[in-house]
Amino acid sequence: MASVPLQSSAPGKVILFGEHAVVYGRPAIAVPVTQVRATVTAATAPPASGLTLVASDLAADTPHPADSPRPADSPRPMQFALATAPEDEPLSAAARLTLAHLSAPEPDATLTISSTIPIASGMGSGAAVSAALIRALAAFLGRTLEPSETSELVFKIEKIHHGTPSGIDNTVVVYERPVFFVRGQPIERLSVAAPFTLIIADTSIPSSTKVAVEHVRRAWTRTPAHYDALFDQIGDLADEARRAIETGDSEALGALMSENHALLIELDVSSPELDELVDVARFAGAQGAKLSGAGLGGNIIALVEDELAVEVEEALIEAGAKRVIRTMVSATE
Ligand code: MEV
Repeated sequence: MASVPLQSSAPGKVILFGEHAVVYGRPAIAVPVTQVRATVTAATAPPASGLTLVASDLAADTPHPADSPRPADSPRPMQFALATAPEDEPLSAAARLTLAHLSAPEPDATLTISSTIPIASGMGSGAAVSAALIRALAAFLGRTLEPSETSELVFKIEKIHHGTPSGIDNTVVVYERPVFFVRGQPIERLSVAAPFTLIIADTSIPSSTKVAVEHVRRAWTRTPAHYDALFDQIGDLADEARRAIETGDSEALGALMSENHALLIELDVSSPELDELVDVARFAGAQGAKLSGAGLGGNIIALVEDELAVEVEEALIEAGAKRVIRTMVSATE
């Protein structure tokens, strides 16, 4: 077991194409956002003290049971013991699953969790915190997990948060590279021919993945043929976007993003605030824009040429975006 504190982390993410349709087996594309990260430090604790989870700076911005935004007046307990934490508390669920997977007894340790990934905004904060925690605990125990094992464990936690996740969030934050993802299939590497810049803008309205996924499921149950046709169209866009990314065609990529947003409106997961930010970004010169993640709130993403990035960011802030994050998706093999 480790005697010096060990630190592990995982990035945020955005979905470029295919949210919601990916839950129904259509392809989707997601990329890591490395500017924001969840970090977990594991340190030795006194003998017989068991495992303690400290979530000191997560009061404002972290995953929460059932993925619901935490009211400002009820912050997560700063510190709690694994032994007394509720079964469905996500941080302790991650610790318990990791110990069970490794067939390891509860160690005397303190796990300190922090994250700069905005909560409930479609950026994968829950998956990233779980991934960082699982890695830190395994490292503390002197064990190494394959990315596939970590991803599978995070997926189990995502099921506690969201019910029926597709698996895209755990995959992109654990592998930390652009992915072309189809539920239940081995991940496919996505080669990025030319780097491109995204601006992520937050409506400041919470987005609950669980609520949005259930909303779409109810509508799909009522009129499956209509929704399956929309999912097919979204899946086709993801396929086309893959070709645009692999050939460096940013003009086509931007147009496909805007088409994807129109289909997300038809799925009824957009909102006036999301539509407004999408329109503002495009009017300010973005090549394309769409909501990203579960929707109903949360973030939009806009594809921009570098020389227009500041202008688009300023327009988004002016239009009421709570924060903007600029990220570059780098060229890969
Ligand atoms: C959430 O980041 C993306 C959704 O498609 C849900 C999922 O894939 O699990 C809305």
